[in-house]
Amino acid sequence: MASKSMALVVLAATLILCFVSSFAEFQRLNHGAKASGSLSFLVVGDWGRRGAYNQSQVATQMGRVGENLDIDFVISTGDNFYDDGLTGVDDKAFEDSFSNIYTANSLQKQWYAVLGNHDYRGDAVAQVSAALRKIDSRWLCLRSFVVDAEIAEFFFVDTTPFVEKYWTHPKDDTYDWREVAPRKNYIETVLKNLESELRGSSANWKIVVGHHTIKSAGHHGDTPELVNLMLPLLKAHNVDFYINGHDHCLEHISDSDSPLQFVTSGGGSKAWRGDVKNPKDLKFFYDGQGFVSVQLTRTDVEIVFYDVFGQVLYKLNESKQLYSTI
Ligand SMILES: *[C@@H]1O[C@H](CO)[C@@H](O)[C@H](O)[C@H]1NC(C)=O
Ligand SMILES: *[C@@H]1O[C@H](CO)[C@@H](O)[C@H](O)[C@H]1NC(C)=O
Repeated sequence: MASKSMALVVLAATLILCFVSSFAEFQRLNHGAKASGSLSFLVVGDWGRRGAYNQSQVATQMGRVGENLDIDFVISTGDNFYDDGLTGVDDKAFEDSFSNIYTANSLQKQWYAVLGNHDYRGDAVAQVSAALRKIDSRWLCLRSFVVDAEIAEFFFVDTTPFVEKYWTHPKDDTYDWREVAPRKNYIETVLKNLESELRGSSANWKIVVGHHTIKSAGHHGDTPELVNLMLPLLKAHNVDFYINGHDHCLEHISDSDSPLQFVTSGGGSKAWRGDVKNPKDLKFFYDGQGFVSVQLTRTDVEIVFYDVFGQVLYKLNESKQLYSTI
């Protein structure tokens, strides 16, 4: 009798583990580069407010810049819908804050989105579901995934479950931990899968995208869980850029002891927090609204930061030799 119930416990535990790891699995997608071998895209974060707080103005300028650069896709760094994510797949906020805002021709491309902490305060399962893609086929939000774009590989990481305070001090907020809890198993699996994806990548440019900051001069500042658990992996596997939102600003920070660069694009709507720290290696910080463009070739990258009027605030260029695989 005892051994029979023991076997059941083991079976149940195995099933739970499989379940957890399947949601922490990195789905792999392909997005071809242009025939010329280049790639360009926009990055926006922290945006869904039905057009308010300059969201619509930022969207208009994204449309203009997107046209000029003939972008291939758009990346959203999360906090896609304020204040509390979506209520379900039929929440009108999806159209009011996404479909009916980013209407420019050039933005009718694939969007690759991660979830932010505000998305977890609503129905996070709905936001990653295929049902939304039926309403607007541009929308692709998954928990963690890889986009192989030939000249660059993008690793999208679900960072909200890493942050301990959302689990231990949820105040009046509730978080949708379905498909995620327990935290420890989930983040261990995400890190293990991220490491194996990074190790297996032969792309000349490796770009990791998550909602939360690793390093930031803004209101939220650094995220200690990511500094401790994820940053060492990014350095060990020669990641070029970590791109995030969460702090409602635009910024560039370099790393003092590795080539890794931190790019924050969290200016999609409400900004102007006014409290700026001054970390070492801060290259650029803008507290207002805006977005970022990235142009890549096999050997060169140009990253440009724009304000709400589409004016260029700052540019970052980087070149490197091709790693020969021959
Ligand atoms: C919209 O952008 C302008 C220009 O940066 C700024 O002065 C204004 O405060 C912004 N509005 C809001 C609501 O953030
Ligand atoms: C930066 O890169 C762009 C395109 O990748 C190039 O046109 C421009 O000349 C570069 N600027 C500098 C200062 O290297």
